Amino acid sequence: MQENFSLKPFNTFGVEASARYFSEVTSIEELIETLKFSNTQTLPLLFIGGGSNILLTKDFDGSAILLNLKGISEEIIDENHVLVTAKAGENWHQLVMYCLEKNYGGLENLSLIPGNVGTSPMQNIGAYGTEIKDVFESCKVLNLEKLKQCHTEALEVFNLEKCRFGYRDSIFKHEGKGKYVILEVTFRLTRKDHTIDVEYGAIKSELENLGIKKPTIQDVSKAVINIRQSKLPDPKVIGNAGSFFKNPTIPLSQFEALKLKFENIQGYPNGDFVKVPAGWLIEQAGWKGRQIGNVASHKLQALVIINATGNATGKEIFDFSSEIINSVNEKFGIELEREVNII
Ligand code: EPU
Repeated sequence: MQENFSLKPFNTFGVEASARYFSEVTSIEELIETLKFSNTQTLPLLFIGGGSNILLTKDFDGSAILLNLKGISEEIIDENHVLVTAKAGENWHQLVMYCLEKNYGGLENLSLIPGNVGTSPMQNIGAYGTEIKDVFESCKVLNLEKLKQCHTEALEVFNLEKCRFGYRDSIFKHEGKGKYVILEVTFRLTRKDHTIDVEYGAIKSELENLGIKKPTIQDVSKAVINIRQSKLPDPKVIGNAGSFFKNPTIPLSQFEALKLKFENIQGYPNGDFVKVPAGWLIEQAGWKGRQIGNVASHKLQALVIINATGNATGKEIFDFSSEIINSVNEKFGIELEREVNII
């Protein structure tokens, strides 16, 4: 355990903030030992995975714990199915590549998403027509309250239903917030009869560009990687946390009223509601590519806020995001919700 430790290498925005205590754990036993110490000090806890969905707006006066639990295992279920279990600290994209090498299908549309496996259920990561809920079998968690009470059964398993997944949402963002640490996640994947999902328009056109008519899961992954690389900034090069806001869902009546005023407004209808792309709203409000001080909205995807100079503070990024929220609200009467966790 180290004191006054810089978290700059552990957040993909690359902002400077320190933690009063920092420890890296590589096993459940080490995690439990660290938690026992933190409990005696009654310190607030911050669990860090890939750091790809947090914005540190100030120093953290508590115990930051880097979950570096590694390992991938698999269990063949039948001729066409396999359960693949990855520990929380495995890099997400490396897991996707591991599965594709073995020709296990289901994760290919989720190629190149930054972050680690352990945080993937929290916000039900999704891209290009797939969300992890589509292939999720279960996850193993540590119940922090039970651990505090020295309960012997602090390890629990959450199945699909118990996770209550929604769009960028799960129980871990609501009742379960701060109560559980996700230790490993199991996915149910296909071994041969793969479902190829190229419905997301950009994948189809990218496959056409590549001259591929009958895509394999590996081809779909390649197309997704190309699309992402063409418009999303690489966090290793420019600090960012992917989409900063969720795509808002508004009532159909509100959408129809907006359509009269903004005839190009885009929307994906879902019953009495319509999901509107936040990137479009932000661009129309004049923010795409705009920079204030060290922070900017990305020039190719307005929904991504970047640490443009590498010197931004978390507070600057937060304030920039507030200005976007106000501006979109003024123009469209829609309140954007941050997707990134603000610490
Ligand atoms: N758009 C604009 N201007 C922009 C950005 C987007 O007009 O600056 C329009 C596009 O033209 C398009 C629509 O908005 O018609 C949707 O854009 P895109 O396909 O890029 O997807 P998105 O809705 O902006 C979501 C996810 C991404 C995911 C993509 C692909 C959210 C919050 N974001 O973005 O996820 O990669 O779909 O499935 O749902 C992430 O969560 O970090 C992330 C990158």
